Amino acid sequence: MQFVVTQNYEEMSKEAARLVESVMCATPFCVLGLATGSTPLGMYEALVHDVCTGALSFANVTTFNLDEYCGVAPTSAQSYRYYMNEHLFDLVDVDMARTHVPSSSCDAAEDACVAYDAAIERAGGIDLQVLGIGNNGHIGFNEPSDSFSVGTHVVKLSESTIQANSRLFNCVDDVPRRAITMGIGNIMKARQVLVLANGAGKAGIVARAFTGRVIPQVPASVLQLHPCVTVVLDTEAASELVPVKVDD
Ligand code: GLP
Repeated sequence: MQFVVTQNYEEMSKEAARLVESVMCATPFCVLGLATGSTPLGMYEALVHDVCTGALSFANVTTFNLDEYCGVAPTSAQSYRYYMNEHLFDLVDVDMARTHVPSSSCDAAEDACVAYDAAIERAGGIDLQVLGIGNNGHIGFNEPSDSFSVGTHVVKLSESTIQANSRLFNCVDDVPRRAITMGIGNIMKARQVLVLANGAGKAGIVARAFTGRVIPQVPASVLQLHPCVTVVLDTEAASELVPVKVDD
């Protein structure tokens, strides 16, 4: 696990975009796993900037998003499909048919989960998975649990996630109680993982997830077992990481 600590949110975003771009350039027909939330917004902005200047192209890129709320229509401003269209897909030269966000429909959710995993496999697997981290250590919508999940599945959101995400809804009662998410197994199969976190509010969970015990009660801790993870932080999010002592 490699840590990159940057001065602030802008530098974190640029650093993350640089890593995404290096994988895109090195991998013909690159498959990206993408995340939503406030954290990666600056990274998407930097990627869009580079497409606009002609330095980057998404023409041959396939994307799979981590998660989606159940029962929120893709046209609704709160859906993750809407977020992705607004902040990336509508602004770059990606082929929309190659962009995938889990279905928000609650009907036949089991079939949709199986189909999502199959689509990832057909695309050749994920080259780079981008992740944010929830306050309780969730990645995607994999909430603290007694075991690590495997494939895409439907989850019941925890009270802390409902509270944290209510800022994007009119009121807490409007936050969906269920979501569909890639599993920990899907995330661990990605050839490379990029985790982003910024702000003092994430400092505690960053330290716990990446220097504490690997336990399903802190889902992000499983990333300690992945062979190729880069964690890009700002100084605030890195503030509770204890520097490793080097003996003379
Ligand atoms: C949501 C998403 C996660 C995201 C997390 C943190 O619950 N499902 O994928 O990483 O929130 O969000 P933020 O970046 O806004 O802190």
